[in-house]
Amino acid sequence: MLKVFKNHSLYKHNTFGVKVSAKFYAAPETPDELITILHKYRTPDQDLLIIGEGSNILLTNNFQGLVIRPDIKGIEILDKSPDNAIIKVWAGENWDNFVVYCINNGFGGVENLSWIPGSVGACPIQNIGAYGAEVENVIESVTGILTDNLEQITFIRNKCNFGYRDSIFKQELKDRFIITNVIFKLSRNPVLNTTYGRLQNELAGNKKTDLQSVRQAVIKIRKDKLPDPDKFGSAGSFFRNPVISKSKFNNLRSDYSDIPAYPTNNQGVKIAAGWLIEKAGWAGKRTGDAGVYNKQALILLNYGSATGKQIKDLAEKIMISVSNKFGIDLQTEVNVI
Ligand code: FAD
Ligand code: EPU
Repeated sequence: MLKVFKNHSLYKHNTFGVKVSAKFYAAPETPDELITILHKYRTPDQDLLIIGEGSNILLTNNFQGLVIRPDIKGIEILDKSPDNAIIKVWAGENWDNFVVYCINNGFGGVENLSWIPGSVGACPIQNIGAYGAEVENVIESVTGILTDNLEQITFIRNKCNFGYRDSIFKQELKDRFIITNVIFKLSRNPVLNTTYGRLQNELAGNKKTDLQSVRQAVIKIRKDKLPDPDKFGSAGSFFRNPVISKSKFNNLRSDYSDIPAYPTNNQGVKIAAGWLIEKAGWAGKRTGDAGVYNKQALILLNYGSATGKQIKDLAEKIMISVSNKFGIDLQTEVNVI
């Protein structure tokens, strides 16, 4: 039965653990329920916030509009050939449950993306990535509802404008397109992608490397690097790794020979924001309950009762400090609301 809640707490709906509420909250379980909610409860003067599992948002205030959490579940195999499986997954499925499903069925392509929090509906938004893989490489299409006219639209992969932590859904279509399902193409003859340095090291002692052992290695690395979600609130990396020009990179490297850099497809050089923040002196710093993780300075923490505003203030101070020290403007990865 379709329910819309008033003054609903969002505490359990954001991994930062910020205590705010939504004026209206609904979690439709079917595409029809979603359309009904938009029809009945969405008014042009009211703000709309779409959320999944809240692992990439920072809520800085009570939300004075309608929050929709698409809770549509289901995983359907649409087609299977000797080489590939085409799978439709509804937005409300948990991402990592889908990864486990793929590995158990021998479908390759998402194993490096093991243990990333969040829903399947949100995975295309910032084109989730880790350990040398990005979800765009296995996405066939993304389907959803345009909130302007309630039309259903499907975007095939090359219309999604995927980039590093970016897509059309995070830009032109932000807050205007509710993703209802994603179609993936997985390989039934997986070629493992283990070139990422730390992953390669982790797998070095293994007699046999398969989808499951890649998953276990990724989980081990993630447990080492990321804060324990039962102890601290966080949303993973708070900032994106900046891409700077080669000449700027060469200048920086003459002062800091150890600056970590990643190759990119274009002319620029991607550098590690965590390193910049650490070098600016922020690792382990804490003001009240808002702090910077001591093992990975790209991650901001809520030690208990920090407000969204306190975490946002801390992020702004870090941005100013990195800009002053290195002349680099960090951009947030987390969606600040
Ligand atoms: P939410 O946080 O609820 O929403 C994120 C954005 O997507 C919001 O703008 C929201 O409006 C929008 N949105 C959500 N669902 C929909 C929908 N159905 N339709 C339209 N818009 C929608 N990310 C990585 O890429 N790589 C990592 O390695 C990684 N590690 C992380 C580690 C930790 C400990 C944490 C907490 C986060 C990490 N993240 C990582 C970030 C996060 O896991 C991803 O961004 C994830 O895809 C967010 O999913 P969600 O359902 O929680 O989305
Ligand atoms: N580093 C430091 N100090 C720090 C943090 C990092 O010197 O405080 C250095 C590390 O030593 C390493 C380099 O920076 O040489 C990169 O660090 P790490 O391997 O931890 O990766 P990252 O670039 O900080 C990115 C993603 C993560 C993803 C990992 C693994 C972004 C913004 N973050 O982190 O994604 O899991 O790579 O692929 O691209 C997320 O998006 O929320 C997220 C966690």
